[in-house]
Amino acid sequence: MKLSVIGCGYLGAVHAAAMASIGHEVVGIDVDQRKIDVLSKGLAPFFEPGLQEILTEGIASGRLSFTTDMAAASGAKVHFVGVGTPQQKDGYAADLTYVNAAVDELIPHLAPGDIVAGKSTVPVGTAATLAERVVPTGATLIWNPEFLREGWAVQDTIDPDRLVAGVPAGDEGERAADILREVYHPSVAKSTPFIVTDYATAELVKVAANAFLATKISFINAMAEIAEVTGADVTQLADAIGHDARIGRRFLGAGIGFGGGCLPKDIRAFSARAEELGRGESVAFLREVDAINLRRRDRAVELVVDALGGSVFGKKVTLLGAAFKPHSDDIRDSPALDVAVRLRGLGADVVVTDPAAIENARRLHPQLTYVEDRDEAIRDADAVVLVTEWDEYRRELPPEHASALTAGRVVVDGRNGLDAAAWRAAGWAYYGMGRP
Ligand code: UGA
Repeated sequence: MKLSVIGCGYLGAVHAAAMASIGHEVVGIDVDQRKIDVLSKGLAPFFEPGLQEILTEGIASGRLSFTTDMAAASGAKVHFVGVGTPQQKDGYAADLTYVNAAVDELIPHLAPGDIVAGKSTVPVGTAATLAERVVPTGATLIWNPEFLREGWAVQDTIDPDRLVAGVPAGDEGERAADILREVYHPSVAKSTPFIVTDYATAELVKVAANAFLATKISFINAMAEIAEVTGADVTQLADAIGHDARIGRRFLGAGIGFGGGCLPKDIRAFSARAEELGRGESVAFLREVDAINLRRRDRAVELVVDALGGSVFGKKVTLLGAAFKPHSDDIRDSPALDVAVRLRGLGADVVVTDPAAIENARRLHPQLTYVEDRDEAIRDADAVVLVTEWDEYRRELPPEHASALTAGRVVVDGRNGLDAAAWRAAGWAYYGMGRP
């Protein structure tokens, strides 16, 4: 099937390449000429495992192309809209400028019978508003939220755990859902749950899922705060409650909390939308989820300061990690970088290392010192702080090896990812988050 994908960021670029890899003819469209040039060469404009391979394959097969020209969308049967919905500069609500612009620019190129499939995360009610603009063209608007995780985006797109389609009522909606089933034929063939619903439910499924995940993380981080004043160990607590299948151990990783381009802004946008709907109190807890999350960054800074005797001034502190999570070069609202910036603000000589995110981090925070090589980064450090749990730091940095390089023996484990006993046995003062 011929498809267009409007927006070639973390979501759209992966979606375009993944759809080509399952046999569709796909054109990816973005306003950013630089990004389009890179993608057209079959290169990934950001770090995402597996993306490079499917881009190269797609371009070589002739099924995948990229352009800045919206007119290239004409002739496609389904047009996916995957542009960003960032947090507004002056508030919590989502900024829909890019979604509105993408749909408005697409409209002149639509033909009757086309499907416009929104993938961006939007406030509930957006699809109904956009549909008013799409309907006069004879095309059908549907909402098909995306649940991919960065770092696993290719796998999550090609083989998602569920598909959701918000469609208009009646035959038109049924026809649109059938077309979407053709698009995702490999998932449909293996009976992946395919939920057909209305616009509002589809939009809410996405924000509810992210709100739940954020709540789960903040729940365990709240337990970490209690553990810190009682001497309990939050990782053991998580293991123990996680054995209850109703709770589950995943997303109970206590530490410096969640960041990235989705969870933080999505819970804020959800709060803002609920307020608009007169139901602010229904999700008032999300404010607390946000507050707990941000407090954990303060706590990590406090641990480093205390561990270094009450002041970090003039001390060399090496941050292992800059990305908001491993297997990504994304630094949007990265807790790791936030901790780095705060420590520098307190006068520490901060060095940051990361296997993938240094270039992005340097652009945003040029005031920090970046060292690519992990061992060079920790050389002569007074303290080492794990802030992104890459395997390079979590599994592949034996404490004895670190001891030979650093000046001090202080390690703060902002992700509870290190083997505390091994670090202590090697003579290090180990500080975890919510662990004795
Ligand atoms: C999140 C959702 O997991 C995806 O399902 C969703 O599609 C995506 O947002 C989106 O809306 O586009 P992502 O932002 O890639 O995906 O990252 P997550 O894996 O959810 O991690 C978010 C943050 O939570 C990271 O900073 C991570 O370090 C942190 N985290 C995660 C914890 O602090 N503890 C945990 O136990 C798990």
